[in-house]
Amino acid sequence: MKRFVDLAELPREEVPALLELAERLQREPEPRALAGKILGLLFLNPSLRTLASFQAGMARLGGSSFVITPGQGTWQLETRPGVVMDGAAAEHAREGIPVLASYCDALGIRAFADGRDLAADLAETTFNALAALVDKPLINLESAVNHPCQALADWKTLEDFGVPRRGRLVLSWAYHPRPLPLAVPSAVLHMAALRGMEVVVLRPEGFALPPSIMDKARRAAALSGGSVRESEDRREAIAGAHIVYAKEWGATACYGDAAEEARRRAGLTGWCVRNEWFEPAARECRLMHCLPVRRNVAVADEVLDGPRSIVRRQAYNRLPVQMAVLYRLLKGL
Ligand code: CP
Repeated sequence: MKRFVDLAELPREEVPALLELAERLQREPEPRALAGKILGLLFLNPSLRTLASFQAGMARLGGSSFVITPGQGTWQLETRPGVVMDGAAAEHAREGIPVLASYCDALGIRAFADGRDLAADLAETTFNALAALVDKPLINLESAVNHPCQALADWKTLEDFGVPRRGRLVLSWAYHPRPLPLAVPSAVLHMAALRGMEVVVLRPEGFALPPSIMDKARRAAALSGGSVRESEDRREAIAGAHIVYAKEWGATACYGDAAEEARRRAGLTGWCVRNEWFEPAARECRLMHCLPVRRNVAVADEVLDGPRSIVRRQAYNRLPVQMAVLYRLLKGL
């Protein structure tokens, strides 16, 4: 494996192999496996789980890591091509990223969506431009429309809880005061389709996921025997579901238009996941969310603190699956 950027790039057998390796490293720790190896982590956006779990994973495998958060003790980094750099940024990614890559054995980059131009975000314009500057194994720490580390951890979580391969996963839009990126919903939709699940995207009008994201998931479902469809009917979508995966994202019908966005979401505060949502679901139906989550805005306390919630296991699973990714990238076995 040369890079870990998108589950869709990996050969079919690679995801099960990574999950098996993650299990093995949990069962039989290898504290010297990556001795002498260095992981660079470049965060252009904030993080808790991704930042801490990659550092912890590298340390548990005997390697080390450094973290760069531009503008916080290091130079602000310009990522736009061709700009006159007379603003706050003192360094351009065209110099900064190759320099960072020269200090480490693998580099992870987090670069969220710009949130203004849907076509540019769907094309991963920023992440791809940064990735092209890296001549080492590369890890996507979350880009405009992808979060493969989260997707892999979520797949492991589904396995850990014995969720049926053909089970129903409802990816439900949830309220947030601001339009959040499409990275997690896109990655989770694709992951669940690739796993062979019956996936229902439950969302209000105006919040449909873009056709290219739905098409990618449908192609994965065609390979695995799964299915993908959309619904605005909460009761119908959740009937018999094994998983409700709550996620907040921006209105795609008016992407980049802040005023129209605010108007559309103003009436949607009822999209906060509550216990009553699970009434038509399967008895063992669980709640997933990638975190961070706004309590009593996106998901109610009663759900997050109740027996259905497996959000902490999802977050924990970032560690073993990323250790498996690091092992494959840096040890090659
Ligand atoms: N889920 C996730 O990626 O969390 P962070 O943004 O805290 O890294």
